Amino acid sequence: MIDPKIVEEIKLRNPIEDVMAQYADLKRAGSNMVCLCPFHSEKTPSCTVFTARQSFYCFGCGAGGDVISLVRRAEGLEYVEALEYLGKRVGIEVVNTDERRPRYDKNRLYEMNKAAARFFRDVLFSRPEGEAGRQYARSRELSEAVVKHFGIGFAPDSYTALSGYLKDLGYTDEEMVACFLAKKNERGRLYDIFRARLMFPILDVSGNVIAFSGRRIDGGKEMKYVNSADTPLFYKRKNLFALRYAKNSCADNLILCEGQMDTIALHAAGFENAVATLGTALTPDHARLLTKYTKKVTLCYDSDEAGVNATQKALRILGEVGLETAVLQLTGAKDPDEYLKKYGKDAFARLLGETRSKFRFSLDSILAKYDMKQTDDRVRAIEEICRMLADVYSVSEREIYTREIAEELGVSADSIKQDTDRLIAKARRERKKAESEEARRRIAGIGDRVNPDYVSNTGAASAEDQLLGLLLLYDEHRATVLRHPDLLSPEDFITAFGKKIFSLILEGEKNGQYSEAALGESLTVEEAARLEALKMKRVSLRQNGAEVFAAYCAALREEKKKKELDKSAVSADDLAGYFAGLHKKLNEK
Ligand code: UTP
Ligand code: MN
Repeated sequence: MIDPKIVEEIKLRNPIEDVMAQYADLKRAGSNMVCLCPFHSEKTPSCTVFTARQSFYCFGCGAGGDVISLVRRAEGLEYVEALEYLGKRVGIEVVNTDERRPRYDKNRLYEMNKAAARFFRDVLFSRPEGEAGRQYARSRELSEAVVKHFGIGFAPDSYTALSGYLKDLGYTDEEMVACFLAKKNERGRLYDIFRARLMFPILDVSGNVIAFSGRRIDGGKEMKYVNSADTPLFYKRKNLFALRYAKNSCADNLILCEGQMDTIALHAAGFENAVATLGTALTPDHARLLTKYTKKVTLCYDSDEAGVNATQKALRILGEVGLETAVLQLTGAKDPDEYLKKYGKDAFARLLGETRSKFRFSLDSILAKYDMKQTDDRVRAIEEICRMLADVYSVSEREIYTREIAEELGVSADSIKQDTDRLIAKARRERKKAESEEARRRIAGIGDRVNPDYVSNTGAASAEDQLLGLLLLYDEHRATVLRHPDLLSPEDFITAFGKKIFSLILEGEKNGQYSEAALGESLTVEEAARLEALKMKRVSLRQNGAEVFAAYCAALREEKKKKELDKSAVSADDLAGYFAGLHKKLNEK
């Protein structure tokens, strides 16, 4: 567990509006601030940062919580990691007193990765077992200068070479496993993961070795590339190959390709603004990372169908974070690596000057699918084009495209516009419907993953929600439940979620260590967001005193009683109704 005082200190020194500013443009709105939600895609801001309460809540997607929840979500971190991240931001060290989960000394892990990279490099350069690697590097036309620049090495064809070497340096089995350098077999024996592979170290922007990618050297059945899984040092969703080298030359334009061999070939040819994702498609995290370094991304994916589809997806993701985009079309080669080898760097530079806009790329991909001389095909192509236009948000942009398409295809701009507008109206109707459906579901608790018991106990669950909101907001109510266990106890709660949260609050209060920030350690980000919503509902009401609290305690107890009655006597109500009716009849007579 982390000392709650340190947690509070970290929160205090990391104002949520400062941290949110890393992910979104904040605008003042009264005493609060609003922004486009970094957790879902939207055009009008529905995310509010409550500066006084130091929390955020998105009315669109329900994300919310304190600054720690924000970082957990935005950076994809566990609670303790988020604290470390925020601690680092303000120079506070986070000491974890929790012995349960193994914690690693990250500096040792960095050192170990560096030692591994050095080992691979030595094998490639000067050891007999590196011969196969040297041959392969030659066959890929990797010059010595390039090999040195990227720190490329070779993992020998052995199950123990690297792990034995690292063991001699004093690294433990657990450390090697944590960094994806070795694994344990069923009998608990440690073995090297990377064998007989050309090794590419992955560096972070400061130059630390955080992971590896290994390419098999022959055409065997093994996976072509083995990449490090996520480790304490590496998250593949948010690291890009060669960003360390590209970061200084990509301010105006960055080239994004699919593979590290492509990136290396581009750098070797002088295009030092190239990067690649690592064993994964482009993620929103990658896109946000890129906004720190560049204004514009030129996509240079493989020319096959998979590459075209990946381009389509990447364009969307990059557009959502506001990056300018362009698409480079490779002709006569499957990827940049092959293109450079076949046609040279001047030809590639020419392609860079002839990139297509996102619009042109999408249009061309549609036209390529149809035979525009056939009437049926023409109709279907135009339908698809209108769907694409309907996705263009800006009206003036849409108008320009509409005119261009009309002229190119020889149809009237008016008819295209009418079709497009109809699609836009339809999409809007559907969105409205989906939104109200979503709201209805949320109210009814259907599909409620945080509190699955809600839907079958709406009465009790809503009383629980009110009580939790009050407890989270006001010290006095927490003091009350501590002093009067008869007023409210965990057993009074019907939903597992309510019981869990109440128990956590009570426990913290008992130790004299309650702090909402520390509570976060036991919550998922979804649970934290739900608590934020509960507080928000409550804080907007005027009556939050002891009478209200007592009333909800009574209401919850009442619900519980009803529930038990329901279980024991199925027709108690029916009987009562029957007798009441009988009584009435007798009186009338
Ligand atoms: P490609 O199959 O296009 O490989 O995969 P490539 O970049 O052309 O590599 P070479 O030239 O054959 O050596 C593109 C990227 O997809 C990932 C790698 O990051 C690769 O660079 N990939 C591919 C994997 O992670 N695993 C695989 O088995 C294959
Ligand atoms: Mn290739």
